[in-house]
Amino acid sequence: MYKHVLSPIQIGPMKLKNRVSFTPVWPSFATSDGRVNRELIEWVRDIVKGGVGCINIGCGCVNRNLPSFVTHLLRMSEEGTVNEMTMLSDLVHMYQCKIGIELFAINMYGGSFETRDTNSTKPVVELDPTFMTKEQIKEYIEDFVEAADRAVRCGVDSIVIHGAHGQLPGCFLNKRINERTDEYSAENMDNASRFTVELLSAIRERIGNKLAIEYRINASDMVEGSPTLDEVIEFVKRIEPYIDLLHVSRALHSEQKLAPYMNQPLYYPHGINIEDATKIKKAIHIPVTVVGSVTLEQAEEHIANGDIDMVSMARGLMADPYMVKNAKMSCPEKTRPCIRCNNCINITHYKLAPVRCSVNAEMGMETIYMNVGTTTPKKIAVIGGGPAGMEFARTASQRGHSVDLFEKSDCLGGVLNMAAAPDFKADIKNYLEWSIRSVKACDNVMIHLNTEAKPEDLNEYDVVVVAIGSEPIIPQFVKDNPSVVWVGDLEKGNATVGDDVVIVG
Ligand SMILES: Cc1cc2nc3c(=O)[nH]c(=O)nc-3n(C[C@H](O)[C@H](O)[C@H](O)COP(=O)(O)O)c2cc1C
Ligand code: SF4
Repeated sequence: MYKHVLSPIQIGPMKLKNRVSFTPVWPSFATSDGRVNRELIEWVRDIVKGGVGCINIGCGCVNRNLPSFVTHLLRMSEEGTVNEMTMLSDLVHMYQCKIGIELFAINMYGGSFETRDTNSTKPVVELDPTFMTKEQIKEYIEDFVEAADRAVRCGVDSIVIHGAHGQLPGCFLNKRINERTDEYSAENMDNASRFTVELLSAIRERIGNKLAIEYRINASDMVEGSPTLDEVIEFVKRIEPYIDLLHVSRALHSEQKLAPYMNQPLYYPHGINIEDATKIKKAIHIPVTVVGSVTLEQAEEHIANGDIDMVSMARGLMADPYMVKNAKMSCPEKTRPCIRCNNCINITHYKLAPVRCSVNAEMGMETIYMNVGTTTPKKIAVIGGGPAGMEFARTASQRGHSVDLFEKSDCLGGVLNMAAAPDFKADIKNYLEWSIRSVKACDNVMIHLNTEAKPEDLNEYDVVVVAIGSEPIIPQFVKDNPSVVWVGDLEKGNATVGDDVVIVG
């Protein structure tokens, strides 16, 4: 069924057992001074156990001088990281998986290029392409080369140079971001590609073929000044001799409104970069992978057609790291779907807290949930068959308890039935269906529909869990206003509306 996805692939000196890679993710683990910690190790273990061909650790900082706000990012700029990353490489290899580290110079969050005054003589971030001195460019290249050398000594199999999302050096191609007039200007491709070519050739010269060199690129920055796809292709042809794999993404971090194009929410299509990746692949001779809500089905189809060579995923694999093993065992229906709520990225990138997932409670909490189980099984009543009740029932049953699940309506799912109603919320529908399917598949969960649990029925249980739903959040300023109704009441027929309706949310 997933013959092409599951077939091996050679990426430079690295052979992957299948064509699914965990794309670079910064889980906001590492100690405050950027060293590998137990949380990172166990998070990685949980993902690679699920069968991916390769895992890429996001945001390995190379900067020799890190801004003070940078904490909990892996410092590939420090010699001490070599020892600890070696442990991580060895762990990943134990699972017949390969490991890559993304190298990047932290920047960008300080300002927006779109709002920069074009007459300004001041940089908007520490490393602003328009204002970087040639000395800074040289230092930047040296920092990358040193970090790449450390990566070799850590025993990782690949490095991913982050040139997408407005990171240096990729943003040198954008005429709006790069307003230089010297030999690094964006005016022609010789100049625009100069920095990246110098960087990649210096890395290749130092590390040779000891590991694979991968490059993340934007098919489009999606702002004024963005290179066209033809220009991107021209650029890729220039860097092709130095790299083994190209990752295709799009959009800029510095523009908040573009965030949905990097991490597509549930109302965006799946696989939004496949079309551009296909066009790029046709023009070059190295393998191409693509990110952006790609499903395993899309990956299979497009790898089979020769449009792309492999697929890179983040959120789908965090929602369920066992996606690849399930595909291999011909039971893809067991894979817990990601609902593309972006809770994970909001937590890591905006709250700067450790990664969490709305549908995978263990994600990011591996050290806490390790070895939980029971030697004294309990008899448990769960009241309410919504998402929380079903999650509890499944988890308790996996840990060896027996569960009676009481639901007073005639179906499981609770509020998710309403949330999944619009057709553009298909991801929630998939999750709802998975949730019902998987709780029904538990041997020791008895489901009682159309049954309201009464106190006198509950005496025989060791534990009673109340999961009877949550209250919708209605803003105070519209509360108690008779012309405001909650969509849930409307769906249930408990409220009516007239002909002129304002929908909020
Ligand atoms: C929690 C989280 C952390 C991420 N961290 C990084 C990162 O460190 N470096 C990077 O290049 N991309 C990062 N990304 C973006 C992903 O690599 C990927 O491009 C994006 O999630 C789209 O792929 P997906 O739809 O398969 O999740 C992150 C995404 C998420 C959800
Ligand atoms: S938090 Fe949401 S978007 Fe992120 S992996 Fe989990 S379900 Fe997907």
